[in-house]
Amino acid sequence: MATTRVPLISGNWKMNHNHFEAIQTVQKLGYLLKDTLKEAGVIEVTVHPPFTDLRSVQTTLESDNIAIGLGAQNCHPEPKGAFTGEVAAGMLAKLNVSYVIVGHSERRELFGETDEFVNAKVKAVLAAGMTPILCVGETLAEREAGETADKVSGQVAAGLAGISDDKAATVVVAYEPIWAIGTGKVATSEEAQTVCGDHVRATIADRFSIGIAQAVRIQYGGSVKADNIADLLAQPDIDGALVGGASLNADDFAALVQAAVGS
Ligand code: 13P
Repeated sequence: MATTRVPLISGNWKMNHNHFEAIQTVQKLGYLLKDTLKEAGVIEVTVHPPFTDLRSVQTTLESDNIAIGLGAQNCHPEPKGAFTGEVAAGMLAKLNVSYVIVGHSERRELFGETDEFVNAKVKAVLAAGMTPILCVGETLAEREAGETADKVSGQVAAGLAGISDDKAATVVVAYEPIWAIGTGKVATSEEAQTVCGDHVRATIADRFSIGIAQAVRIQYGGSVKADNIADLLAQPDIDGALVGGASLNADDFAALVQAAVGS
């Protein structure tokens, strides 16, 4: 029997929008997507604001009954302690955060996060009862050197190392080729499908089981917009998108979600 995976469209706001702008954005999204989000099991949408916005966005979503999930962009693997400037997974869970982006390429490249550190974060997010969105992806140089498969499979295997089968089935993996992030260069749907299917899902099948691999949702990220989402979602191993630039403006993001539903 084929596994049904509800598409997950996630807006990663990165370091954009203060809490006033965040409230306005989600209120407008709630209004624009009112009918689209009504039907359960068709699509799942999350927003991932900066930490300082989370409480405001949480109360807005809850008081206005907006069916958009709350996500964070990062966390620290330790539950508490002397880690100045860091935020623990348990603190996010208390704000009803349900998804946490882990190992985004910007954190790996700009903040030196290793596969081991990312793996510790995945475990912390799961232990706090939330879902990690584990990001993986190759640089342009790696793609041109024919290293995409090794890089992506390695990041998937390392990111999910030591996780129980039942937890592994709940994880989301986002394949984001670094050369496609914020550049306007989207991988072709076929290129994205090859990596999501042959490298991400196949690695999970190899490390866990085919059943678990079929349950895991795989997002594509990198210059996703309203006009390319349908082609991407038409691919058998692409179950959603992690969206940067096109998630910042409510009109753009609502149009993208609507295009995803119509696909
Ligand atoms: P863009 O959609 O702006 O290319 O960003 C993708 C991304 O990094 C989402 O995490």
